[in-house]
Amino acid sequence: MAKASAPGKLILFGEHFVVYGLPAIAAAVEGRTLAEVTKADKYSLVDNRPETPGYKKEKRGQQQESINLMFKAMRLEPSNVRISLGGDLVLASGVGASGASCAAIAAAANAEFRLGLGRERINDVAYEGEKGYHGTPSGIDNSCSTYGGFIWFKKGASGAKSEIGPMDSKAKLSIVVGNTGITSNTTKVVGEVKQLKEGEPARFQMTADEYLSISGEAKAAIDRKDLSKIGDLMNRNHALLRDIGVSCKELEEMVDAALDAGAIGAKLTGTGRGGLMIALVTEETVEKVASAIRKKGYKAEITGIGAEGVKVIG
Ligand code: MEV
Repeated sequence: MAKASAPGKLILFGEHFVVYGLPAIAAAVEGRTLAEVTKADKYSLVDNRPETPGYKKEKRGQQQESINLMFKAMRLEPSNVRISLGGDLVLASGVGASGASCAAIAAAANAEFRLGLGRERINDVAYEGEKGYHGTPSGIDNSCSTYGGFIWFKKGASGAKSEIGPMDSKAKLSIVVGNTGITSNTTKVVGEVKQLKEGEPARFQMTADEYLSISGEAKAAIDRKDLSKIGDLMNRNHALLRDIGVSCKELEEMVDAALDAGAIGAKLTGTGRGGLMIALVTEETVEKVASAIRKKGYKAEITGIGAEGVKVIG
C-alpha cells in the first residue's frame, strides 16, 4: 500500500480568465486530501473525505471518469486497485478538491506501482484526471496541488505546455474562506462564460484586458507583500467576475459582510455561482470577518496559504 497527500488550492487572481490563456495566481491551502492506493484483485473505492453536504454525490460519476482517465494515462488497469480517500480538506466547489485528489491518487499510484514518475509527470496525470471533472480544465488546480506554495500559472495555447512559475512562498497571507454551501458545476459555468465571450466579444475583451493589468500588478504586490494593494486588486478582480456573471447573491452577501467587517479585500474564488469566497485579513480583523460571515448564516474557516505540494507519506 502507498499513501500520498496533496493540498487543496485557492485562486487568488484569475479564475475563468485563466481558461483563455491569461495568467492566474493560486496558493495551496492547509487542508489536504490523503489517498491510499493498494494493489488488489478487484477495484474498490472508499471515500471518507469530509464534505460540504451533497458534494460527493454530485461528483460521483465525474470521479469515476477521472480515475479511469488517470489510470489510462499511467497505463495501469484500474480493475486491480483499491483506492481509499480521506484527509482534512473539506470538499467544496472552489477549494480544488478534485485537483487535490487527482494529485494524491497519481502520486500514491506512482509509488505503489513503482512507475518512477517525477513531479512534472505526476502533474500531467493529475491533469488527465481533472478532465473527468470538467472537460477543459486550465490545469491550475492540479498544478497548485502538485507544486504547492504560491503559483503563477499561464495555460499553454492549444496543446503547448503551460507555464507554471513558483512564487515567493514566504508571503504568508491570512485568509478567511466563506462557503455558500452550494456545489457548483464547473463545466456549466465555464460554458456560460464561453457563450458570453462568443456572444459579446468586444465586451469580454475589455474585461479581459482589465484583468490582464490586474494580474501583473497582483504578482508584483504579492512578491513585495503589499497587503493593501493585494486587497484592492482582489476587489477589482471580484468586480470583473461579477461582470462576467459568475457571482451570485450568496457570494455578494459574504463579500460585502467581509469588507464591512474590515477585510483588506474579498472576492469569489474558483468556479463561482456558489462555492467559496475569500477575504484577506490581518490578525486584528480575522475573527471579526469570520464572525460577520457566520452571522449571515454561512460557514467560515480561517486558513493560511502557501502549503507544501503533493508528497508520498509511506
Ligand atoms: C476552477 O477552479 C477554475 C476555473 O478557472 C476553471 C479552470 O481553470 O479550469 C473556473
